[in-house]
Amino acid sequence: MQTKLSLNIGKLKLKNPVMVASGTFGYAEEFEGFIDLKRLGAIVTKTITLNPRVGNPMPRTCETPAGMLNSIGLENPGIDKFIKEKIPFFKKIGVPLIVSIASESDPEEFVELTRKLNGISAVAAIELNISCPNVKHSHDKLKGVPLISQDKEATFDLVRAVRKATNKTIITKLSPNVTDIAEIAKAAEDAGSDAVALINTLLGMSIDVDNRVPKIARGVAGLSGPAIRPVAIRMVWEVYQKVKIPIIGMGGIMDTSSALEFIIAGATAVSVGTANFINPKTTTDIISGIEKYLCKNKINSIKELIGSLKCQS
Ligand SMILES: Cc1cc2nc3c(=O)[nH]c(=O)nc-3n(C[C@H](O)[C@H](O)[C@H](O)COP(=O)(O)O)c2cc1C
Repeated sequence: MQTKLSLNIGKLKLKNPVMVASGTFGYAEEFEGFIDLKRLGAIVTKTITLNPRVGNPMPRTCETPAGMLNSIGLENPGIDKFIKEKIPFFKKIGVPLIVSIASESDPEEFVELTRKLNGISAVAAIELNISCPNVKHSHDKLKGVPLISQDKEATFDLVRAVRKATNKTIITKLSPNVTDIAEIAKAAEDAGSDAVALINTLLGMSIDVDNRVPKIARGVAGLSGPAIRPVAIRMVWEVYQKVKIPIIGMGGIMDTSSALEFIIAGATAVSVGTANFINPKTTTDIISGIEKYLCKNKINSIKELIGSLKCQS
């Protein structure tokens, strides 16, 4: 049924544009007692790898002014256990399920993970996390091994390989830790990605001055929350100028107004991350808030709002 809020991303049919961001909502069952999960536009899982991962040493999160740092290090049960133990719950909810995947060392693992998800009808889309700053290879930049999403050729090759392996909707998640995110988004589009999601966390660091140690065991970590919102909106705006595929915007969305900023900048849908830890009802409040905004401003469809920024330059 078409409503003011419904829209499509690739083959995904969303009843509204509000999703949860990978890694901030577990596997959804953790939030069952707090919100009506059926109201969500879609659910994105914590990133899954081929093998189980215990993640990085503690401490791996800390608060910062207007946000948080995390270096979880992709802790997850591995794809086989995920399929066996977590997928049945999603079948019960009936909200489009987007499974986030990542490789640990060899990009070919993305293709292997995709093949494992291909036959599962409950999986509506696959999100390629080529932008996690908290796994070993990703800090090896100084040694010349960047994140996949820091290199447009590597992004193209990876997305192309996954595209060949699946007919499911592919979303490519991008890193803000680049000079020109729009050219990486274009590479993902050219290779056949159905959408891009941005932004993953910005690299940051906090120091415990009494002990002169980093507050996060690994030192450098990923910054999220309201502090990164203006950067994220700027990047959505830049990517919107460059690509035709839908953008899923995220980074510091806390309320209706901040979600609307992303949509007006060019995002087709939005994801809520850090805010889930503060108020688990943020997503459902935003869904109601966007609906009210459309009615108040006599806008018939959310689609009219996407990229509607009036900008002089
Ligand atoms: C604790 C934590 C864990 C995260 N884990 C993942 C992850 O597994 N995969 C991923 O693609 N992004 C992960 N992210 C990044 C978020 O999905 C999102 O891109 C980022 O936090 C920006 O949105 P926000 O400011 O609303 O949190 C994580 C973020 C946080 C705070």
